[in-house]
Amino acid sequence: MTTGAVAARAPRLPGPRSLPLIGWQLEGLRMLGDPPAHFMRAFERYGPVSAWDPRKPRHVYALGPEYNQLLFTQPERFISDAFRESNLPRDSAMERLTFGLLRLNGAAHRKHRTLMQPAFRPQRIDACRDTIIGFTQAELDRWTVGETRPRLDQDLLRLIMRIAMQTMFGLDPAGDGVRLQYLIARLLELASAPTTLLLRVDLPGAPYREMLAVAREIEDILGVLIRRKREAEAGQLDVLSALITARDENGQGLTDDELVGEAYNVLCHSTSAASMTWTLFLLDRHPQVLATLQEELRTTLGGAPPTVEQLKKLEYLDLVVKESLRLFPPASFLMRYTSEACQLGPYELPEGTMVFASAYVTHRLPELFPNPQRFDPERWRTATPTVHEYTPFGAGPHNCLGRHMAQLEMKLVLSMLLQRFRPTLVPGARVDRAMRISLVPKLGLPMVLLAPDHQPRVTPVRGNIHASVELV
Ligand code: HEM
Repeated sequence: MTTGAVAARAPRLPGPRSLPLIGWQLEGLRMLGDPPAHFMRAFERYGPVSAWDPRKPRHVYALGPEYNQLLFTQPERFISDAFRESNLPRDSAMERLTFGLLRLNGAAHRKHRTLMQPAFRPQRIDACRDTIIGFTQAELDRWTVGETRPRLDQDLLRLIMRIAMQTMFGLDPAGDGVRLQYLIARLLELASAPTTLLLRVDLPGAPYREMLAVAREIEDILGVLIRRKREAEAGQLDVLSALITARDENGQGLTDDELVGEAYNVLCHSTSAASMTWTLFLLDRHPQVLATLQEELRTTLGGAPPTVEQLKKLEYLDLVVKESLRLFPPASFLMRYTSEACQLGPYELPEGTMVFASAYVTHRLPELFPNPQRFDPERWRTATPTVHEYTPFGAGPHNCLGRHMAQLEMKLVLSMLLQRFRPTLVPGARVDRAMRISLVPKLGLPMVLLAPDHQPRVTPVRGNIHASVELV
């Protein structure tokens, strides 16, 4: 496989025979409807590389580990520019809010990343353990055995947002953080709604207009918070305080606008909540796996929340989380843009081509993961995929900065929740996939909370989830 200057006579990209005028738009709509299905279909029909419209290759799929490696190891040629498609108004709050690491490249990205790295060091993040335990305990105390949680996914998202308020911003989620939590949740909803993506009109009543207004309010709140923190004494433990005081070798730090962009970025923890939601779904459907995990939790923790040291001993929990992230990577696809005309394998791509990579597809290649549709945590006892074969947290210079935080919060919450409850899907529920920033159950996850030792009969589940995982 090669990349480099454009070849003299490159072959035409594979892809569907597209209709005149609306070729790529139609494929775009199909993709938005169910991205995992679209990516898998493209891979099965056309192989690792294909275009939405081969006549005008503006949107190209580059799937599988070899192409992951090409995209992620040449950041100067395949640049990151999240939100480019959203066409955000220049100088708008939404533009500034989203101007974080995922829109930076080259020296600017390196500078921000270097300044931010210390705030995300495992040792520092481990200090968030007590906060995470506290919020989780309070949430679980509100739940009772026997009750139905119609949107367990939303319960988890709320919990994760509260944790984020405190650990990232030092904000009391029941006080100053209430409004910000609501606004962030609303913004995530609006920014990923198909109506906002397709109808980008700043008119009264339009979701796009509401998104811009919500972004303005978030920017104002973050601005006040940053000013307050700049004036406060040193020694505060939240991530934003660490970013404010961070300095490079020339003594330079991040400006207020830069801090706003990065602050928003690190607050988007919806991925952790999505991943926990899928893990609980998978465990319910695989009682044997759940029983093994419960046994590990019982013998290691005896009902108490884990310490950071104990977390390292929960080996089976680690396998379960890895396997859940393989089958349901919350960021099931990523995008890059070509910064110049270049070659991708044998194909020629013009400058500005949007290139998609997909962890969802890579994680389902049978040569990497035998019986890929099977939820089998045991596979991780021997599996040793490379960084381009298993990519739930991305790879290359933009790989997830919050990976340790994500794993810490997921493992703490899951181990506490599963010692107190045995969640099971409401009988007859439908589970479909959808992309809402993260890969999530489209209609949410309705669960009944049973006692941990209860062993319910596994009832059939409806929905397109069967295309993602083999279910018992
Ligand atoms: C299970 C949870 C999570 C998953 C699956 C996940 C996944 C990812 C992926 C795939 C990327 C790479 C994006 C790209 O290359 O375009 C990324 C980047 C990033 N993530 Fe996460 N993430 C998670 C949780 C978090 C959390 C909790 C934080 C913050 C505390 C966080 C902060 C970031 C940041 C700041 C970046 C941008 C890094 C850069 O561009 O240099 N993530 N994440």
